[in-house]
Amino acid sequence: DLHSSVKTADKKETDAPVCVGKEEDIKQSQRITASVHDREVVIFYYKGKFYAMDRRCYHAGGPLHLGEIEDINGQPCIICPWHKYKITLATGEGLYQAIIPTEASATPKWRSKGIKQRTHKVTVDNGSVYVTLSDLSVSCDSDYYADKHKKTVQVLK
Ligand code: FES
Repeated sequence: DLHSSVKTADKKETDAPVCVGKEEDIKQSQRITASVHDREVVIFYYKGKFYAMDRRCYHAGGPLHLGEIEDINGQPCIICPWHKYKITLATGEGLYQAIIPTEASATPKWRSKGIKQRTHKVTVDNGSVYVTLSDLSVSCDSDYYADKHKKTVQVLK
């Protein structure tokens, strides 16, 4: 029917990879922001790998493209500049430190809150970098801020 054919067309459009820049340029700047099918995305180049995720932090919409990257338990994480939430670059998991009372040592351990920030696929083809949005039909906490800022004109710093 008409409804399902429209839906299929929509899905197809946002499924298409979007070129966000030249490989060499992003390797040099180490991060860029881009609009991918009207979604604000940040692309990081860190220790030889590209990563992409929604630009606004799932917690309160903070600017992840301005955060520092740190390795936590061997996982590269972006630290949100607003309230220092830690998000794994590869999977978008929120990490927190917990003390496990049943364990003898009172050293806090890093734990995952699960996937909180939507990550996207990055591919490199012929010197250009492309981002493919992840499946938007599966909801993610960061969708709230991504949708809220859709199509609004922003000056990115
Ligand atoms: Fe990112 Fe609060 S907005 S930690």
